[in-house]
Amino acid sequence: SRVEYLNYEVFDDHGWELTDDDLFEKASDADLAPDDYGRLLVQQNETLLEAAENRGFAWPYSCRGGACSNCAVALVEGEMPTPAGHILTEEWLDRGIRLSCLSAPVTESAKVVYNVKQLPGLEELIL
Ligand code: FES
Repeated sequence: SRVEYLNYEVFDDHGWELTDDDLFEKASDADLAPDDYGRLLVQQNETLLEAAENRGFAWPYSCRGGACSNCAVALVEGEMPTPAGHILTEEWLDRGIRLSCLSAPVTESAKVVYNVKQLPGLEELIL
């Protein structure tokens, strides 16, 4: 899967919201550092977190087993399954939140915002 990624930590600086329709267009025009915005190719045997790490990025994580939500991403486009045995509620899944340590997008392309662990409410899940 070809994944376009964006760092949630730059949102404040730019006044962006996760619900902005043209979020990734704005990101692509914003001249962000490669750490904060870009594209990566996820290989078949990689989780999204591993794919980022294998390309030299330091995305947040802790347990690597679906139990803490430090590795949470917001899936803006595409599909990314969540295996059983994770901490996310249905409500978070419905809002597009996924755990990058557990899986990767299964669609040919996807857009994800990483570093969303500090979303209001989600941080309470963090152990
Ligand atoms: Fe803990 Fe992914 S690192 S849920």
